[in-house]
Amino acid sequence: MAHRVTLIPGDGIGPEVAEATGKVLAATGVEIDWERVELNERLIRETGQSIPKPVIDSIERTRVGLKGPVTTPVGGGFQSVNVGLRKKFDLYANVRPVRTIPGLNTRFADLSLDMVIFRENTEDLYAGIEHEVVNDVVTSLKVITRKASARIARSAFEYARFHHRKKVTSVHKANIMKLSDGLFLRCCREVAAEYPEIAYNELIVDNASMQMVSKPMQFDVLVMPNLYGDIMSDLAAGLVGGLGVVPGANIGDNHAVFEAVHGSAPDIAGRGLANPTALILSSVMMLRHLQELSAATRLQEAVEAVYREGKSLTPDVGGKASTSEIADAIIAKLK
Ligand code: NAI
Repeated sequence: MAHRVTLIPGDGIGPEVAEATGKVLAATGVEIDWERVELNERLIRETGQSIPKPVIDSIERTRVGLKGPVTTPVGGGFQSVNVGLRKKFDLYANVRPVRTIPGLNTRFADLSLDMVIFRENTEDLYAGIEHEVVNDVVTSLKVITRKASARIARSAFEYARFHHRKKVTSVHKANIMKLSDGLFLRCCREVAAEYPEIAYNELIVDNASMQMVSKPMQFDVLVMPNLYGDIMSDLAAGLVGGLGVVPGANIGDNHAVFEAVHGSAPDIAGRGLANPTALILSSVMMLRHLQELSAATRLQEAVEAVYREGKSLTPDVGGKASTSEIADAIIAKLK
């Protein structure tokens, strides 16, 4: 039976990478009945609804989404729909595997990096609670709860146990934010105690950032609050070839939305330059979620074969191919 999946192309490079991903997925032979819904900056401005009802209804129905990026205005305008969607469906675990792609020439290419970042996805400074106290004085509230901290920690440890990972590192700033990050850390420690076979350590976020670029090999599974997760995952992406190659998933108890780490990349949008690999690898995560395990492995291997060959890569990773050319090369490998 076909899987029903909500497709949100988004805006900027979103429609280009979504189209490439759609044709690659079709070539896997997995039957997907797409419900395509629009979610983009223009529509939000026109309708005034931050998440249009058709998007909510569709994800409610299908419970699985594949999503391109959506532009969020900076320093004003509507609230982030990305944050809104994650909150609406309680997609609390943002899972971002960061792996060296064999054949891709990066500074750490010979190290075979393989880490997975678990970013808490529903609270922290992304709660969006901001006030102007008096003129020229504003506050942003950082919300940390036991419920959200414990469940992201448990997601990280469960993942580590299932995938036979050796270590979970929690990243924090509890030396300064003693109450909020202190609670986050306490929750991580309590959960860690239930997984004695998995090593557990803690790093302050500034040191973790330095270690990430100087000794990234030490990282296995990482867990952290929302803001550090946002920044550290872009940082880690930079080690393995950039935002064009790093996938992600937003997972809740009842719904899941798969999307790359990158944004709408307005600087290259509409020119066929975008690398669809990040969304294609996000769709590999989606295939696993849908229990299409052999198709997921075949697609992952087809992507890797194209990178090993190195003839059909996009400009961000040193090639000359267009978005659709790399997709066609992946499809050729699938066949
Ligand atoms: P960005 O991720 O869109 O771009 C950063 C840099 O990486 C740019 O130079 C871009 O060209 C490059 N890049 C990103 N994805 C690429 C790809 N697939 N192939 C080749 N190069 C790629 O980040 P930026 O510029 O900070 O944000 C742009 C917009 O995207 C903002 O409105 C932001 O709010 C939104 N955004 C949306 C996200 C989402 O929908 N999940 C996530 C992050 C940002």
